[in-house]
Amino acid sequence: MLLGVNIDHVATLRNARGGTEPDVISATRICKICGVESITTHLREDRRHIKDEDVEAIRMLPRVRLNLEMAMTDEMQEIALRLRPHAVCIVPEKRQELTTEGGLDVEGQLERAIAFTKPLLEKNIEVSFFIDPDIHQISAVSKTGAPFIELHTGRYSEVFGTDEEEKAFNDLKGAAIFAQNFGLKVNAGHGLNYQNVKRMHEIPNLVELNIGHSIIARSIFVGLEQAVKEMKKLCEGV
Ligand code: PXP
Repeated sequence: MLLGVNIDHVATLRNARGGTEPDVISATRICKICGVESITTHLREDRRHIKDEDVEAIRMLPRVRLNLEMAMTDEMQEIALRLRPHAVCIVPEKRQELTTEGGLDVEGQLERAIAFTKPLLEKNIEVSFFIDPDIHQISAVSKTGAPFIELHTGRYSEVFGTDEEEKAFNDLKGAAIFAQNFGLKVNAGHGLNYQNVKRMHEIPNLVELNIGHSIIARSIFVGLEQAVKEMKKLCEGV
């Protein structure tokens, strides 16, 4: 499985003091040196961590594959069409939430999702929708033309190690297989850490995992390079 490192929390820390440290571009370079396949950033409506300048600077770096997480708004579509990241992942966004708490309701706004996706695909941007493991949402995404879904692993991560883990895991696995039968490619992420990530290998043909919080948290103790390398090995199944 490929690894996309979500570097939003590097920006969260930087913004806490309003200066330039830690520098997100240096973090991106370290991730790249460690062989990660994508750099993932969520440009939120309130710009609470990643800022427009960060996304623009990352986009300019050679050989860095940028996965831009963003809400389904006109402002974000304009930014994506202008910057042309390699991939966009369309996520739900609520102002008050601490992080992306659930998947996007694609089924409930299918016409909008189709219209939103089309110009992105025309610019050769790989589009994915961040959804819960739900067959209705998967069939809705299959009608948008987007080639990817990203399955929200939050529930699985939350109940990992409890009696509810098996059900949450099987929901993810079943959803991944269901989506692949529709011809969709499947990524996954949210709440994955150095323990619960191992079971992702039991899900066939997952393409990429997007992981942020656990890597940046571990980097405080062992440094970013080691934290990323350890996760990279786990994704490779080593
Ligand atoms: N994937 C998506 C779509 C997300 O919104 C997030 C959180 O921003 C992640 C992956 C990474 O989640 P975490 O920081 O919990 O690893």
